[in-house]
Amino acid sequence: MVKEILLVLAAISCLLVGSTAQPSHVVHIVGGAKGWFTPPNTTFYDEWATKKNFTVGDKLMFLFHSSVYNIMQVTKEDFDNCSDRQVMNRWIIGPAFINLTQPGMHYYYDGIGLHCEAGQKLKINVTVGTHAMAASGAHVTTPKLIGLFGLFTYLAYSLFM
Ligand SMILES: *[C@@H]1O[C@H](CO)[C@@H](O)[C@H](O)[C@H]1NC(C)=O
Ligand SMILES: *[C@@H]1O[C@H](CO)[C@@H](O)[C@H](O)[C@H]1NC(C)=O
Ligand SMILES: *[C@@H]1O[C@H](CO)[C@@H](O)[C@H](O)[C@H]1NC(C)=O
Ligand SMILES: *[C@@H]1O[C@H](CO)[C@@H](O)[C@H](O)[C@H]1NC(C)=O
Ligand SMILES: *[C@@H]1O[C@H](CO)[C@@H](O)[C@H](O)[C@H]1NC(C)=O
Repeated sequence: MVKEILLVLAAISCLLVGSTAQPSHVVHIVGGAKGWFTPPNTTFYDEWATKKNFTVGDKLMFLFHSSVYNIMQVTKEDFDNCSDRQVMNRWIIGPAFINLTQPGMHYYYDGIGLHCEAGQKLKINVTVGTHAMAASGAHVTTPKLIGLFGLFTYLAYSLFM
């Protein structure tokens, strides 16, 4: 329980720091309220990602329990094959924040068991945003709202999953 509380506090501070330092950047909660899990079909994360725009400076938030799931960032070939010839990054502690610092395609999957084969894989195209909208007042509050949504999602996740 203490660990959960610490994680929540850490999540809050990350979100607060994120929203004051870079007001135009978005935290994307991968899979929405369902988080990072082995989905019922192989298109679940594609369906989630096609509704989003990913921009350099945004963050991905993967909600998962350590040791049940993990995240591996791989090449397209490894992603398509669910193979692990060239693992670029690996995150084993959940929840995990990933900074999107480079434009281009990014490939992630869960490296445990047959989770990748079952569809626990995410590919996104990160673009260089113009951030022209960031200066207009209307958009400054968005990351905070998304941050709050993330926090509630995380709390719900901790309590019920
Ligand atoms: C995949 O699963 C999700 C979650 O249950 C569902 O919303 C979606 O419609 C499914 N997609 C297909 C193609 O069956
Ligand atoms: C993504 O970008 C397109 C084109 O700029 C825009 O029409 C769309 O509303 C954006 N979607 C989201 C969720 O921001
Ligand atoms: C799977 O990996 C093999 C080499 O190990 C490669 O030749 C092939 O193109 C890959 N398949 C896909 C769909 O990427
Ligand atoms: C991610 O970006 C935040 C600032 O938004 C920074 O504090 C943090 O150290 C970065 N994390 C990594 C792993 O680079
Ligand atoms: C990623 O998005 C950029 C900018 O919209 C586009 O030029 C590029 O072709 C896309 N890459 C892929 C692999 O779809």
